[in-house]
Amino acid sequence: MKTQVGIIGGGPSGLLLSQLLHLQGIDSVVLERQSREYVLGRIRAGVLEHGFAKLMREARCGERMDREGEIHHGFFIAHDGIRQRIDLHALTGGNSVIVYGQTELTRDLYAARDAAGGQVIHNAEDVKPHAIDSRQPYLTYRRGDDIVRVDCDFIIGCDGFHGVSRKAIPKDKLTEFERVYPFGWLGVLSRTRPVSPELIYATHPRGFALCSLRSQVLSRYYIQVPLADSVEQWSDELFWDELKRRLPDDVAAQLMTGASIEKSIAPLRSYVCEPMRWGSLFLAGDAAHIVPPTGARGLNSAASDVYYLYHALVDHYHHGDDRGLDEYSAKALARVWKGQRFSWWMTTLLHRFPDSSAFERRLQDTDLAYLFSSRQAQASLAENYVGLPF
Ligand code: APR
Ligand code: PHB
Repeated sequence: MKTQVGIIGGGPSGLLLSQLLHLQGIDSVVLERQSREYVLGRIRAGVLEHGFAKLMREARCGERMDREGEIHHGFFIAHDGIRQRIDLHALTGGNSVIVYGQTELTRDLYAARDAAGGQVIHNAEDVKPHAIDSRQPYLTYRRGDDIVRVDCDFIIGCDGFHGVSRKAIPKDKLTEFERVYPFGWLGVLSRTRPVSPELIYATHPRGFALCSLRSQVLSRYYIQVPLADSVEQWSDELFWDELKRRLPDDVAAQLMTGASIEKSIAPLRSYVCEPMRWGSLFLAGDAAHIVPPTGARGLNSAASDVYYLYHALVDHYHHGDDRGLDEYSAKALARVWKGQRFSWWMTTLLHRFPDSSAFERRLQDTDLAYLFSSRQAQASLAENYVGLPF
């Protein structure tokens, strides 16, 4: 098999890149290890920057997002029983975010690839990149007893944190940066009316909590839990009780509870690997960087990688200009680190660290008091939340 761009991973990064390239007449093949049902069965976040939404429209995949997604002009931070609204729209000169589940977004991308006859190969076992330090790289994967070879000009690693692509870069050529947080997020999805039309990020001596949504009949809630906890320890009843304790009384009184249809614990980690290119291999999304979900940057950082790669590949194929490819790693990392800083700051601001000193807790409270009292501080938060320019 021969193509121009070989993509490992059929998650949002790989599919969005493949679709954008297709619209520019550039051929690609996506190799996905899992089945489509499995990929679409994963519950992930769903706050889209305005730049990402624009890219989805450019990929001609924005119709359902714009129809079913919710435009949010603000969100709340709750602390000490007070809710402070962060007016994204007013503080950023009219920008906002779209709340639309990553699962639905991925479904739209698959539909667009199918409609265009795109090659997305599922259940591709044992995917391996080869000759990445040459100009004739290729991929192989196993289909039953056969090894299938895909010759290409470039390999894009969109295979997430646990993929093969990052591991193909010689260890001594890679620098890794990591912060693992001493807690996780216990998330629940429930067929209940959301407690608030806008998201509420709550900080409380018992720990962080988040009230989010997927629609007006599907709610998503999270509470901070010790890393050692297991889902089995948390009955629905225990979850709702603990969530209520961490919310302002008036919000807790409004909270509609119900049976969880999904419940899972996600560890919190900040991770970046540099560089994001090695020879003919380029990394994008979770394959190169992970953020704690507090800043809602994960998917959006992946989208900015795709934005830079897409333009660099178009410049290469349409204009024979490789500057974008040569600058990709530096450009993508510059924005990735801003997302890392914002996510780390939001996580540090809103969570209770088991080993924090009295001095650190005072600083945390003061950071919140400053944020609640300063329009400039809120504007800085808002511009990061709606998405910094690409
Ligand atoms: N071979 C082929 N496919 C693979 C392999 C492999 N060896 N390893 C992983 N994959 C696939 C996974 O099954 C997954 O479908 O790569 C895909 C990676 O998708 P994501 O993890 O969703 O990563 P990405 O597309 O970069 O999207 C980033 O996803 O996890 C969220 O918070 C994250 O929102 C961010 C977004
Ligand atoms: C979610 O809706 O799942 C969600 C929203 C905002 C976040 C993280 C997760 O910061």
